[in-house]
Amino acid sequence: MILKKIEDEFWTSKQRQEFPLHYILSYRASFKAELPDFFIRHFSKQGESVLDPFGGRGTTALQANLLRRIAFHNDINPISQKIAYAKTHPVALSEIAKRLQSFDLTTHTPIDEHQELLAFYHPDTLKELLNLRRAIQQNYDDVNRFIELVAVSRLHGHSDGFFSVYSFPQIAVSPEAQRKINAKRNQTPPYRDVKSRILRKAKQCLQGALRFQERFPESLNNQIRTGDSRNMSWIESETIDLVVTSPPFLDKVDYIKDNWLKAWFYGINEDSFKDALVQTRNLEEWKTFMRETLKELYRVVKENGTVVIEVGEVMYKNQTVNLDEIVAELGEEVGFSLYAIFINKQRFTKLANCFGVANNEKGTNTNRCVLMVKGYAQHLNVPLEKTTLSLFENDYNS
Ligand SMILES: C[S@@+](CC[C@H](N)C(=O)[O-])C[C@H]1O[C@@H](n2cnc3c(N)ncnc32)[C@H](O)[C@@H]1O
Repeated sequence: MILKKIEDEFWTSKQRQEFPLHYILSYRASFKAELPDFFIRHFSKQGESVLDPFGGRGTTALQANLLRRIAFHNDINPISQKIAYAKTHPVALSEIAKRLQSFDLTTHTPIDEHQELLAFYHPDTLKELLNLRRAIQQNYDDVNRFIELVAVSRLHGHSDGFFSVYSFPQIAVSPEAQRKINAKRNQTPPYRDVKSRILRKAKQCLQGALRFQERFPESLNNQIRTGDSRNMSWIESETIDLVVTSPPFLDKVDYIKDNWLKAWFYGINEDSFKDALVQTRNLEEWKTFMRETLKELYRVVKENGTVVIEVGEVMYKNQTVNLDEIVAELGEEVGFSLYAIFINKQRFTKLANCFGVANNEKGTNTNRCVLMVKGYAQHLNVPLEKTTLSLFENDYNS
């Protein structure tokens, strides 16, 4: 295996895409839009298809559409499909306002079944949320799905913009942990009006998203699904031009526990997918999972298509394991040609806000992207110079 490792500042936080919809909600271990933006620009063309088999909060899908590519999105967690669908089907603020106005959120609704949620919400806020959930389900069109996304983004956090009393924004803590926070901070959940908060957040996030489907018509051909990365039978063989993705790392992120409030609002039961969701600490198990996924990627990718897998280094049995090298090896095993590993070096130390990593001491410290090709990698004209950064123009935001 000949491996070229290229270290540079390929994308920076300064290039932060001014498309606020990307960041509407937090999601565990997510990457910033700059990462898919870099690879989509350099390794695909307008009208081509870009797949993320571990789609998470839909960043690859949305960025693919903004760059006029067709998005294929997959994730085992049904939450992910709902998020990615709404993000790639934004509606006008006026429609949201009109729809919200038509909802009566004050009707009497028993909250007894949801006692635990009173650790987060004032009883009247909880009542409004239950009424909102019901109203959304009654007519599950794009307007209601977008309202649902915004509501989910407001479920827990620090500021007055959230429905909850002061809580953690990144992960949903358990009701018990929230009760402890409340006692420590001497706080009880204040009443938070639901409609006005949704409208405020929607206004903020919809900047630049006007007439989305007209401006980014490739989005009409998007395929956004829930499923296992090892078996994406809904994708025909040899149809994908580029894959950009980040698999679950070998670490302690708990995608089910940390997202439980989102799942509650969406009405999703974890039993439907928890067995297939991979969050193992066992390296051999992880390798088997990645080998199966890479095999499936080899099937769906076109001849000369490109696959980019972002992984980090993790601590395993007190040793640093470079998952990029493992992925490269497995990729070659299933038939891909390795091109290079791009290591993005960032000029700041605190990664917390950059790639969803808790801090610099544990978890993933660098971003390593393994680039592989189905066929021969020689045809790739990869720009490796820093000057390529001039390509990062925000040309979709007009
Ligand atoms: C590192 S996260 C991806 C985050 C994404 N890049 C983003 O920015 O939002 C890994 C994702 O893999 C998903 N996942 C775990 N096991 C899976 C499986 N067997 N098939 C498909 N997705 C899976 C998790 O639900 C999680 O969303």
